[in-house]
Amino acid sequence: MIDGRFASNLPAELLIDRASIARRIDELGAELAGLFADEEPPVLVGVLKGSAMFLADLIRAMDIDVAVDFMSISSYSQSGVVRIVKDLDEDVRGRDVVVVEDIVDTGLTLNYLRKTLSQREPDSLRAVTLLDKTARRIIPVPLEFSAFEIPDVFVVGYGLDFQGLYRNVADILAVRDLARLANDPRLMVAQLFGLKSG
Ligand code: IMP
Repeated sequence: MIDGRFASNLPAELLIDRASIARRIDELGAELAGLFADEEPPVLVGVLKGSAMFLADLIRAMDIDVAVDFMSISSYSQSGVVRIVKDLDEDVRGRDVVVVEDIVDTGLTLNYLRKTLSQREPDSLRAVTLLDKTARRIIPVPLEFSAFEIPDVFVVGYGLDFQGLYRNVADILAVRDLARLANDPRLMVAQLFGLKSG
């Protein structure tokens, strides 16, 4: 079992296991599919890179036709400025748009995305996030769907990274000692990938 890997002195612990993630995404997918069942295919906008896994699983849990597009934005500076690094390929005017986020933390990123996308006059605009860190919100941005609400902890796995690492961990881990990990970012690599699960 994966829990066994955390018996050692790792700076992280299991927060949400892969089976719980899969179950919740199936529910969300069914809910979203029901919403758009009699409509034109919605455009699901994945926000790179963190939401890639969530988007892939979410659309396979939706038994309707969907379109997929991606955006990438630079992380905001302390002034709250965000910049588009990769824009959508398609025009979303008149479409039902669903922004797919990995995590909503301060809300700055989603707030920027919502403003930018609403200027393009979609028919509707909604957001779905895998994780919602409500305790850290600075901007009260609308968020229609959320898979899990989590406390104010730094998380990795299932798309979420620390310095580009750990995105492909199948479970979501809470980092207990961020300072220790910052000191040695690869600290958990051997334990997480060196052992076979199950
Ligand atoms: P925001 O603060 O809501 O604008 O979130 C900005 C971005 O910070 C998210 O899309 C994530 O990429 C990143 N982020 C926030 N919290 C975490 C975390 O706990 N782990 C990994 N990335 C995070």
